[in-house]
Amino acid sequence: MKRTRTKTVAIFGVNGFIGHHLLKRIIDTTDWNVIGFDISDSRIAPAIGRERFTFHKGDLAKDIETIKDIVRKSDTVLPLAGIATPQIYMTDPLKVFEIDFEANLPIVRMCAEYDKHLIWPSTSEVYGMSPDNVFHPDTSPLVVGPIHKSRWIYSIAKQMMDRVIWAYGTHRKLRFTIFRPFNWTGIGLDDIDRKGKGSARVITQFLGNVLRGENLVLVDAGIARRSFTYVDDCIDALMKIIENKNGVAYGKIYNIGNPYNNHSIKELADKIVEKAPKYRYFKDKIKKIKIVSKSAKQHYGEGYEDVNNRVPYIENTIADLDWSPKVDFPTLIDRTFEAYVAHFDVANKKAPKTAPKANRR
Ligand code: UGA
Repeated sequence: MKRTRTKTVAIFGVNGFIGHHLLKRIIDTTDWNVIGFDISDSRIAPAIGRERFTFHKGDLAKDIETIKDIVRKSDTVLPLAGIATPQIYMTDPLKVFEIDFEANLPIVRMCAEYDKHLIWPSTSEVYGMSPDNVFHPDTSPLVVGPIHKSRWIYSIAKQMMDRVIWAYGTHRKLRFTIFRPFNWTGIGLDDIDRKGKGSARVITQFLGNVLRGENLVLVDAGIARRSFTYVDDCIDALMKIIENKNGVAYGKIYNIGNPYNNHSIKELADKIVEKAPKYRYFKDKIKKIKIVSKSAKQHYGEGYEDVNNRVPYIENTIADLDWSPKVDFPTLIDRTFEAYVAHFDVANKKAPKTAPKANRR
């Protein structure tokens, strides 16, 4: 019987939030090879040296020959490296453009040149302040604010790349799939130890606030709503895209999100306060913490504009990929707490003398 060749998957930004979760799933559940590339290896240390995983440490903007070599050797390419923290859209918009668009463009072009399946991480942010109640990849208008609102530079950089990829698909036969994460959530989403307002996306920000004994800040009373999606559900969908049964994912745009987990940021904060007393490392700290409110201008400074609500249309994702999100909102919060508790337990066991702090990573 003819043996089919094992798939080789390239993951740029393999040490990032999506990258490290995806790497683990691939190594644990498939016979695929992974070639990873990242500037850092803090999260993927346990995978280094494992069979079927090759890691290259490097800089996306500089190591073009290495990147070319990786793309050439792969069947499927996921350029996941990027900046996705809203505060940086205001403090360093050029860095967002340079990394999210400029540094990734050569990889897109290489995929077209070497005929590789490109799986591109777009974002729920491309819909911006779309007036639709549910954001549909084929019909929703993409609406952003004026230029001085630099929050939108990320949205526009991603949108521009979506359009470039679409054009490569139409005119140069690029085999691509675009996916749009809707508030993916879980351990490793940003650095929980990083201090300072806006240094992480909201759930990591709130959990880090609790660990540091800081109040939780609701921006504009926390009325904005998001559809929170647990990382395991997200990786399930990505695995189906990489598998790409009968080429179903070619030329498609998929929202990957959980419309049933649509909650306000106030509800998120309340849920964290409600659940924290169950968890080691968090339970004592939560007693001293309050939920307070600030204006967006006070919290983020100039250039910020918010998306009031974001609900993904996922019927095409469900139909094509035979996938659906399974983890509900209370379970998502519990699993995230549990993952951090397990992580701190391991860290404390490894370094009992030097790491008495619960929040050391
Ligand atoms: C995020 C980021 O732009 C991207 O990571 C990503 O592509 C996309 O959305 C996504 O994951 O779908 P956003 O949801 O606004 O944008 O990011 P968060 O920082 O998690 O903020 C969510 C909401 O919480 C906003 O309304 C924000 O104002 C609020 N917030 C944030 C607070 O009320 N308090 C805080 O301390 C932090």
